[in-house]
Amino acid sequence: MVKVCLLGYGGIGHVHANGYSLLEKEGKAKLLGVCDINPDVFTKEIAINISDDSGDKQLSFNTYTDLDEMLAKEQPDMVDICLPTFLHKEKAVYLLNKGYHVFCEKPMALTYAETQEMLAAAKANGKELMIGQCLHFFSEYEYLKDLVVNGTYGKAISAFFQRLSPPPVWAWENWYMNSNLSGGCIQDLHIHDIDMCRYLFGNPHTVSCKTKDGFGKWDCAHSTLIFDDLHATVIGDWSLQNAPFEPSYRVAFEKATVICVNGVVKVYPAEGEGFTADIQPKDGYAAEVSYFMDVIGGAENTKNRADSASLSVKLIETLRNSANQGGKQLPFEV
Ligand SMILES: NC(=O)c1ccc[n+]([C@@H]2O[C@H](COP(=O)([O-])OP(=O)(O)OC[C@H]3O[C@@H](n4cnc5c(N)ncnc54)[C@H](O)[C@@H]3O)[C@@H](O)[C@H]2O)c1
Repeated sequence: MVKVCLLGYGGIGHVHANGYSLLEKEGKAKLLGVCDINPDVFTKEIAINISDDSGDKQLSFNTYTDLDEMLAKEQPDMVDICLPTFLHKEKAVYLLNKGYHVFCEKPMALTYAETQEMLAAAKANGKELMIGQCLHFFSEYEYLKDLVVNGTYGKAISAFFQRLSPPPVWAWENWYMNSNLSGGCIQDLHIHDIDMCRYLFGNPHTVSCKTKDGFGKWDCAHSTLIFDDLHATVIGDWSLQNAPFEPSYRVAFEKATVICVNGVVKVYPAEGEGFTADIQPKDGYAAEVSYFMDVIGGAENTKNRADSASLSVKLIETLRNSANQGGKQLPFEV
């Protein structure tokens, strides 16, 4: 049973806490303590674009407003960082240097340089570090990954990924809408699909991006990733007021087209009837932390490595450079 503490109990912190409840039933992990600078979060209900919290406040963990006090009292094996992005590097390095394994929400950090500091701290202390690139653990993306790896319908020829959301104005001190703290939609929301493209197809050799500012900076990003064998178009947009959250993908393979909207995957083979893929829905957030428990236990991390999450931050930087030059095509140098 891995002993866990969680830092930051806002939107995604609540989602992770629910995941640890499932893992506790499996005897895999126990969430002992949660720390947030704002004590009100332990009593209020929350609603974000991916979940809402019906407000069962029978908390099964101890609550803290001071990180060091929590660490001293709970003596965890690992800490799960669910803080605003601008705090990821500082807290991850601090915790790794203190000898804890660290799970940290995506995006890994605000800059590639910061991600390198996090990787170096993990290596220097011999501790595991994993980033919450949660799509690697969602059934509809696992299904797509299997199709690519197994070549079920031949090679992928073209791909389209999209993630749409209303502006995330629900968070602590409205930090998402300050691009100095969040990196804007291009860094926060868009990175899910940019990282997924790298996970599926490897590193693109050439990229370009056009962005639009609105409520804040970098609210909308239209990117093109060019690989040896295919082009991918990726859109991230959180300027859609009052619209529902909607993730989707469309991938054309040599022998089929695969389309996913909100977790439902439809397959249209070149020959034969189209069908809805038989996918068992699961809690991808619980699955990612469960995987991290295995990694802490000695399993090799082949599915979601921190050095890969770091390169996704580097790719976002390249896309931002492209956008700053009016959408110029730039090489992606790894
Ligand atoms: N994987 C996903 O699908 C997903 C979804 C949502 C958010 N995220 C990521 O998770 C992170 C957190 O996002 P969120 O939506 O939960 O934000 P949030 O604002 O809802 O929650 C952040 C919490 O951190 C607390 N906090 C701020 N500074 C602190 C400090 N120094 N010490 C302790 N607590 C502090 C705040 O009080 C707040 O409760 C971000 O990096 C975001 O990009 C990932």
